[in-house]
Amino acid sequence: MQLTGFRALVTGATSGIGRAIAEAFAREGAHVLVAGRDAARATEVVDGITAAGGDASPVIADLGAPDGVAALVEAAKAHGPIDVLVNNAGIYPLLDTPQTDEKTFEATMNLNVRAPFFLTAALAPLMAARGHGRIINISSIAAHLGTSTMVLYGASKAALESLTKAWAAEFGPSGVNVNAIAPGPTRTPGTAPLGAGLDEFTSTFPAGRPGTPEEIAGAAVYLAGPGAAFVHGATVVVDGGRMAI
Ligand SMILES: NC(=O)c1ccc[n+]([C@@H]2O[C@H](COP(=O)([O-])OP(=O)(O)OC[C@H]3O[C@@H](n4cnc5c(N)ncnc54)[C@H](OP(=O)(O)O)[C@@H]3O)[C@@H](O)[C@H]2O)c1
Repeated sequence: MQLTGFRALVTGATSGIGRAIAEAFAREGAHVLVAGRDAARATEVVDGITAAGGDASPVIADLGAPDGVAALVEAAKAHGPIDVLVNNAGIYPLLDTPQTDEKTFEATMNLNVRAPFFLTAALAPLMAARGHGRIINISSIAAHLGTSTMVLYGASKAALESLTKAWAAEFGPSGVNVNAIAPGPTRTPGTAPLGAGLDEFTSTFPAGRPGTPEEIAGAAVYLAGPGAAFVHGATVVVDGGRMAI
């Protein structure tokens, strides 16, 4: 097991990609803090991990709320030092520019950029003081592609990838590896409303299908584990080959 003795905080771990990362980390021996807004969903994930022989605890906070990051940091720190932070919670409004109102702009930037920024600001210095840590930011291939229906979303993820590189410069010398994962379209509760549209969209990709949350979680296990000790400021693209063509 690659993560024995580590404590990992995974935001948005009550659903989809975050849930798969939490479950994969627990299988690798980590104590996983399952973060989300919905206590019932967090408890369900924790119960599943525990039933499978893993170790997990729920931590509840609304990262879109002004005091949400501080509340999550406090709840997480009560469990002890955090070795791995996964900034996964995110929303992806599918809107073009004229359709995007200021409320949507604020909500998207709050959850996709502000929350990772201040979670990292609170936890990275503690990792640095202990001489080790891993921060994994869940981006998207939308950060790299000009897409007329994902204008704001792509910008929020491009900001997260910029932060990934800046944080590698800032915290890497203190033993904290900061990296990102850019998933392609992945079947999750969040993308369920897209239905067969996701299959059509991905049919021309080399993989010819959407990804599974477990396929994204594999990259997170790698970035959290000993094999990624020399990886800093990178974005691991897990997209069925879309960026290659
Ligand atoms: N699915 C894809 O195709 C895809 C592709 C590329 C990148 N991504 C990225 O991968 C990440 C996860 O996507 P997903 O499809 O797995 O999402 P999802 O199924 O919609 O789950 C979103 C998670 O974020 C949490 N969340 C939402 N709003 C929150 C808030 N205000 N405060 C705290 N937590 C909040 C939700 O928990 P609660 O409801 O319990 O709060 C849930 O656990 C996102 O950053 C997304 O941009 C996804």
